[in-house]
Order: sequence, then C-alpha cells, then structure tokens
Amino acid sequence: MNISSLDIDYLLTTSDPTAVDNLFAEAAALRNRVYGRTIFLRGLIEISNHCRNNCLYCGIRRDVKTQRYRLSKEQILDCCQTGHNLGFRTFVLQGGEDAWFTDEVLCDIVADIKHRFPDCAVTLSLGERGRDSFRRLREAGADRYLLRHETADASHYALLHPAEMSFEHRMQCLYDLRDLGYQVGTGFMVGSPFQTLDTLKKDLAFIAEFHPDMVGIGPFIPADGTPFANRPAGSIDLTLRLLAILRLLLPDVLLPATTALGTLHPSGRERAIAAGANVIMPNLSPQDTRALYSIYNNKLSTLSEAAETVADIRARLLAIGFDAPIDRGDHKKMKLEN
Ligand code: 5AD
Repeated sequence: MNISSLDIDYLLTTSDPTAVDNLFAEAAALRNRVYGRTIFLRGLIEISNHCRNNCLYCGIRRDVKTQRYRLSKEQILDCCQTGHNLGFRTFVLQGGEDAWFTDEVLCDIVADIKHRFPDCAVTLSLGERGRDSFRRLREAGADRYLLRHETADASHYALLHPAEMSFEHRMQCLYDLRDLGYQVGTGFMVGSPFQTLDTLKKDLAFIAEFHPDMVGIGPFIPADGTPFANRPAGSIDLTLRLLAILRLLLPDVLLPATTALGTLHPSGRERAIAAGANVIMPNLSPQDTRALYSIYNNKLSTLSEAAETVADIRARLLAIGFDAPIDRGDHKKMKLEN
C-alpha cells in the first residue's frame, strides 16, 4: 500500500477501538495472504555485551558499569547445534560493537557455521562496520544483517546518541548492506525519548522508501545506569498499530514480534501476531550470559532451557492457529496481483 493512501495520523491517534481492530485485522489478513499462517523462528545468540558506543538509551552502553562477557567460537557453535536440533534454520548473532570480533574472527565463525549447518541462514546484528568489513562477512557466508536506523530524523538521532555517532554513517551502512546483497533489516524503538508523531512519520516514510526485508520495532524500555533510566516505557498499543501499518505498507516484510513487547506484556507477542507480525526470535544464548545482555530492564530471560522455551512458543502458536516450520524463513518477494 502506498504511504500517501494511509491516514497515518488518524491510525496512530484514533481512540475508536473499531478502527484499531480493523487495522489489525487487515494487516493480519494481508500477512496470511503473503506468508500463510506461518511464523518463522530465528535463534538469537547474544555473542557479546561489550560495546564501544554510548547510546543514551542502551543498557549495555560503554559507560554502564556491568559485568561484560563474550562467547567463544565453541560456545557459539554449541548454541547453533542446540538450535539446529530444535528445528532452527536461522541463527542471529547479535552483540554490541566489540572490537574483539575483528573481521578475521567473525569471518571464521560465520564460515564455520555455514559449513556445519549448510541448510541455515546466518544473520548478523553487530552494529555499524565499514563497507569492506560487511563485504568480507558477506563473502564468508553471512546472509542477512539487522541494523535498526533508530530514528529517521537526524536531529532526533542526535538526541539519542552521543556526538561521535553519525546519522549519516548509520544510513550509509544500510545502503552498503543492501548493495552487497544482504537481506537487510532495520527498525526503531517506539516511545523513545523525544519521539513525536512527526519523527514516527519520517520512520514510516523512510521504511516505505527503503523497502527493507525485515523491520524490527519494539517499545523503548528504560535501562538502569543510562541517562534515560527514568523515562517512561513506550506504549504497547502504539507499537501494535505501527506493526500493522508496516504490514500494510510492505506486505512481504518479515516483521518480528520482538522480545521488548513480550517483556512489557505476557501476551505481547501473540498480540503482535494478531497485528501482522510473522517472526519470533527465541533466545539460544547460554543460560549464564542471558541476564548480562540487559539492553533494558527486566528483559525476558527465562530460567528454562532453550528446548522448553521453544516447545512453549510452538504450543502457544498452535493455540492461535499458527505453525512454525523448520525453515530458513527467507524474505518472499511479493507476487500479489492487484
Ligand atoms: N529499550 C528498547 N530497545 C532498546 N534497544 C536498545 N536499548 C533499548 C531499550 N532501552 C534496541 C535498539 C537496538 C536493539 C538491538 O535494541 O533499537 O538497535
């Protein structure tokens, strides 16, 4: 759907519950037409909470005094093996911008994963790197890259990030990734400090124009030890409306029901699916490091094993009439007539 054909102001602000229900129903129906009643699972492996950046919202920013860890290659491969046994065919390696993970180290890890699990996709979510680094990682076998743009408004960006970070460089990374043949994901937090209806509309316009393969959005949740520790969390309702609008704008987009939504509400992920989401990213990280990857307060990190978590997610999906196939869940180029 064309962005100009949607009344974004109305959809984001109306207090008419029927209008909101219709929005969700339309988005869910469109998701079903493109992808069926199928939810793709990705195994999330949080490889490091070291970060050279100092983003004002983030619980693993450089200045936060917290215990730092990084996983070894063996630990990462073990997580993949566990995930593969559980039916995952995509592994998402996520972490802070940690200089220890040089191109050499990362390329070796990516190549090993692709060698051991040739039927799997590897997604990286490791922040900003140079074009040459992205190229080498792509050549080593990485299929996808997630890098939220965070906000499409340059002056809003400057209020969320320290002066040494650049809006232009972040956007440049996204275009480089696309150019190098990655499936690219971007996204933003809902309810981040200083966000307005106007900045949100810029986010939607950027996404409609860039047409990423994936869009990750979730509510902002305050994180202890950060400058935004006392700010209010973003709204679940607004997040769900934005998910639905994103589905209408990009019918074929891969849209995760993010952990941040699940953290704020026990059925947050189910509600996201009812609003058009079609991806869930359960955590495959080792038990003892999960709590340390605390990008925000009370992040869902169950005490249960990955196997139990996945069984629980599959059961919950089945209960609402969805299956989660053993599949890489690649982006599907839309073939809808109309
Ligand atoms: N609340 C919600 N999301 C956050 N992220 C970072 N800090 C927070 C927070 N406090 C998101 C950012 C980042 C992604 C990995 O997590 O959008 O890109």
